[in-house]
Parts: sequence; C-alpha cells; structure tokens
Amino acid sequence: MTILGIETSCDETGAAVVEKKGRDLLVLSNEIASSLTLHAETGGIIPETAAREQLRYILPTIEKALQGIGWDHIDAIAVTYGPGLIGSLLVGVETAKTLAYVLKKPLLPVNHMYGHIYANWLRTESNAQSEKPSLRPTPDEITFPALALVVSGGHTDLIVIGNHETFEVIGGTRDDAAGEAFDKIGRLLGLPYPAGPTIAKLAEKGNRKTFDLPRPLIGSDDFDFSFSGLKTAALRETKKIKKLNDTTLSDFCASVQWSITDVLVKKTIRAAAHYGVKSLLLGGGVAANEQLRESLQEALRSQMPSTTLFVPERKFCTDNAAMIAAAGFFTQPLPWQKVTADPQLYY
Ligand code: KG4
Ligand code: ZN
Repeated sequence: MTILGIETSCDETGAAVVEKKGRDLLVLSNEIASSLTLHAETGGIIPETAAREQLRYILPTIEKALQGIGWDHIDAIAVTYGPGLIGSLLVGVETAKTLAYVLKKPLLPVNHMYGHIYANWLRTESNAQSEKPSLRPTPDEITFPALALVVSGGHTDLIVIGNHETFEVIGGTRDDAAGEAFDKIGRLLGLPYPAGPTIAKLAEKGNRKTFDLPRPLIGSDDFDFSFSGLKTAALRETKKIKKLNDTTLSDFCASVQWSITDVLVKKTIRAAAHYGVKSLLLGGGVAANEQLRESLQEALRSQMPSTTLFVPERKFCTDNAAMIAAAGFFTQPLPWQKVTADPQLYY
C-alpha cells in the first residue's frame, strides 16, 4: 500500500509518498517548500502570509512528490486536518478533498501531532548509515506501552501510547511550548526566527553553567511543563549583561538550552518510569536538538536500561508530509465530505 501525505498546518508545504513494504514504511519521496525566509524577516509567522504561500506552493509540491511515481501507485491520500493555522490548513485539506473526490481515493484525516509521533516509524535508504546508529534502532523494535515526547513550536506534550488506537495525553505545557521558548529567547538575543537551531549551534561552544536559569515545574508531581518564566528570567539576565560578545552569547545559549532540555529530560524519565514504558519516542522540531537526544539517551541508559529511545531522522523531526503519510497507515478513512480543517484539534 502507498500513501500520498499532505502537510500544510503552518509555514511548510509538504507532500510525500510513503510505501508499506512488509512492516517497513519506506519514504519514496519527501518534498517541502517553505515560506520561512519571509517569516524570518518579520521575526515570527504571519498567518495570512503563510496561507498565501501555501496556495502558491501546494500543487507544484504535490507534482514534485509524485514525479517518477504517478497517481496509479497511490492507494490513499492522508492530510493534516489540525491543529494549525486555519488558512494554511484549509489549503491542504481542500486540495486533498478535491484529489480524493476526483481520483476516487480514500481520504485519511491526520492529527498533526500524531504525525510527529509516527515520524518514528519512517525508514529511508539512508537510515542504515545514520550519523548516530545507536540512537536509531529500527522501527519494528518499537514496542508498547510507549511514551512520546512531542516538542515543537506549538506543543510540549507527553503521551502514553497503549497501542495504535490508545493515546493518553498525560501532560503538556501550561504556557509557552519548548520550541516557542527557544524562539522567543532567541528573539531577545537578536537571533533570526526560528531560533532553536541557531541557539543549539551557538551552545556548542558555550559553558552551560555560566548563567543560572530556572527549571520551571521540574519537581512538580504532575507531567506538565511551563516555559514562560524561563523567558522572563532570560530577559532579566540579558539586561544585566553589559556587552553581549561571542563568548557571552555562546554561554547564554548553552545555559538556555540546558535549562530547557534538563526539564524535558527529568519529567520525561519520571513519566516513563511511572508508566513502565518499553519505548520512548521523540518527535517535533525540538527533537532535532542534539543535547536533548543525548541527554535522554544517557538518562535512559543509567536509569531505565530496558527502555529503548527512538528518534526520527532530523528531516522528519521538523514539519514534513512523510510523517503525515506514516500516520495515515494507522488512520481510518473518512468520506471526503466529512473532512474539515480544525485549528483547535487536540488528541
Ligand atoms: O515541529 P516543528 O517544525 O513545527 C511545529 O509544529 O511547531 O517545530 C519547529 C520548532 C521551532 O520552535 C524551532 O525553533 C524548533 O522546532 N527547533 C529546534 C531545533 N530545530 C528546530 N529547537 C532546538 N534545537 C534544534 N536543533
Ligand atoms: Zn509540527
């Protein structure tokens, strides 16, 4: 079976074809067009701009994803129907509905956050030669119960997965998401949007112990997160710094990254132990963060050695359509008339 995935929940226009071969979900194509440079100029996403760009990119991106494959090989169409920006979502959903109607293909409505989780099931030819093979056991080794940490620009969620039908959100952010914290603190530092990858790069040369930043809710009994206090503390600290030179900037970035990842790791490990999970799945843009990946791996190794960490390839951590196609394999089709864009959709 082969699925065309379509993802347009925010500023990325994605189209991808994924084929199920035995137990493997193989990525045959994965195209992404992005209006990110336009948003870098404004320091954040302007929904109207994002939606207009989605309209411009959607058909050429789908055509590119189908090159050398063709419609005859597509068995179903999976599309993100929420959560996300309504204008952007509508472009993908209405395109997918039209294609499903005209081509008489089943339509699979996918929750964007499920997509981030199912990125862990994707395989490519290059998986075998991954940069860090120890972090990437093969997807057929994923066993339930599993715990997913989905960390993106809009979400920081812990989800217990009993099986492909049972998802329970056990905690989430009370205010800013982890990626949002990276982006907002980056803005204070004058870094371009999205700041997560830049902060991670600068942090490589910094000393993470230089600035003593808070770890909100690190000791609370629940599995919730809160990052808005960190942003306020970061603002206070930056005001104290007389001159932000290369060294202080790197030290500051390292301290911010440590504070965010420390909270994420401690709470995730506590949840993993509480629910006795066999697999830990990472997903979302912040899952591309090397310190988060390494710290989680390290903590599991020392505290829960029988639990395995799964991390998607970097290109499948940030928004993409291959993950939507992957989730499509575990989604029930709906008649095209019933599929509507839902910006508020939760699990
Ligand atoms: O999942 P995603 O592409 O979009 C949403 O669904 O939000 O996540 C984007 C977020 C941004 O906040 C970006 O700063 C963050 O992921 N991000 C990172 C890294 N790469 C992307 N944060 C920290 N370290 C990274 N390497
Ligand atoms: Zn996302």
